[in-house]
Amino acid sequence: MPFVVVTDPDSVRRVLGGDGGVYSKPKYFGYRSKAVKTAVASQQKAAELETAELDEKGDVSRRALGQLAQDKFQVILVSMGELLSRLEGLTAKDMESDDDAVIGIVQSGITRLNLRVLFDYSDSRRADDIGMRILHAGREFAQEMVNPLGFLFRPFAVVRFLIDAIAIIRFGRALGRHLDHLASAGAKGWVHSWIGKVGKVGKLGKVTGLVMASTQTVPTATLWLIYYLSEHPHALETIREELRQILGERKISEMSYDDLKPMVYTESVVRETLRLRPPFPVLVKECQRDDNLAGLMIPRGTSVYIVPWLVHQNAKSWEEPENFRPERFLNAPESGGAPSSFAYVPFSRGSRMCGGYRLAVMELKIFVARFAYQYDCETSFPPPFEPGYFPPLNMSPLGMRAEISRRDSAADVVVGLSSPSTSSSSDSPSQ
Ligand code: HEM
Repeated sequence: MPFVVVTDPDSVRRVLGGDGGVYSKPKYFGYRSKAVKTAVASQQKAAELETAELDEKGDVSRRALGQLAQDKFQVILVSMGELLSRLEGLTAKDMESDDDAVIGIVQSGITRLNLRVLFDYSDSRRADDIGMRILHAGREFAQEMVNPLGFLFRPFAVVRFLIDAIAIIRFGRALGRHLDHLASAGAKGWVHSWIGKVGKVGKLGKVTGLVMASTQTVPTATLWLIYYLSEHPHALETIREELRQILGERKISEMSYDDLKPMVYTESVVRETLRLRPPFPVLVKECQRDDNLAGLMIPRGTSVYIVPWLVHQNAKSWEEPENFRPERFLNAPESGGAPSSFAYVPFSRGSRMCGGYRLAVMELKIFVARFAYQYDCETSFPPPFEPGYFPPLNMSPLGMRAEISRRDSAADVVVGLSSPSTSSSSDSPSQ
């Protein structure tokens, strides 16, 4: 089957925008409820306006999503604290004996968090198990994509993949029952309207899809944030200064939803990290009729691929594309100052743009705030992996080690306070 990869913003705009039906998602990518369509359409409208403002007067679904983020703010704040204190507990020996020690904690921490936020599901043990299965199945899937016959040489990996996939589907069914139970107890949440009215199979697909969408991407972004913050002390200090201004004498555990909006530099760090290391590797559309794309004849049926990482490395769109420069997003949060907002596609664009875009950015901002406030960090990679090494279809920093230590200077413990007597109260992550 013919395929083509595009990277210039004009072609990306045509392909992701659909161009009046010329490009669409291949059929097997499934059904979307009306609630999903309207939520995404309005997010997209905001993105096209190149504004990060959340217009709370938007449609019902969008307001519901905004409301979810607000309602679950405290859950996210506390869960990120838990995740960081588990990372802090890792020893050099743990990382020596297990290349996945850091990734595993981040993966299970974010899985716990998103199961709580999206589904009101709080069985941490099962969340940890399912988080690791998602991680392993995702890796194997990426291997198969790169080398479809590779499974012949890895029979055990294939068996494990199948076992993991079955466990994930069974978990999706259990989550569906959990949601039914909540609904019958009168606790219908945001996720019920998000799923919409679908049959059993549709529901399973949507529940499992939402679990995968939120637990394969946010952990990768979180890991790369740890890496960039440890490599760029100036960015870390700037975030601390921003927090000082916003929190005043309050502790990080007293941070509120309203504090997020003025955290513009912190958000720029999140967006720049997603530019350099977009967690979603490939977007695919199918050409519905013969077309001329940037001077190239594209026959009907061609698969058109967009690799966000390549789009973000295009020197025609970005100044010094390989460099970490969060400032580029300060005045242009949606486009990073690139001539077109279609030069920045970590969440895709168009009608199939990420449904959890704003929630994801919010979670990552809260993570960065907690991290910068409480911790210092050093990261490293065991050979042969290097941070610059970009394995195809695996956006995760494989084997990354992170030594996370609590900041010990008294003035750092309570942001904005110089008095040692008040600042000595430590800020427990479970507060
Ligand atoms: C940094 C974090 C995230 C990134 C980079 C990301 C990226 C993406 C991308 C690129 C797509 C489009 C996929 C495609 O066209 O094939 C997508 C779809 C989606 N994402 Fe996210 N995502 C993130 C977090 C989340 C979260 C937290 C949620 C949960 C609410 C979520 C829910 C979804 C859903 C439901 C879709 C499918 C939309 C559809 O086509 O119906 N995502 N995401």
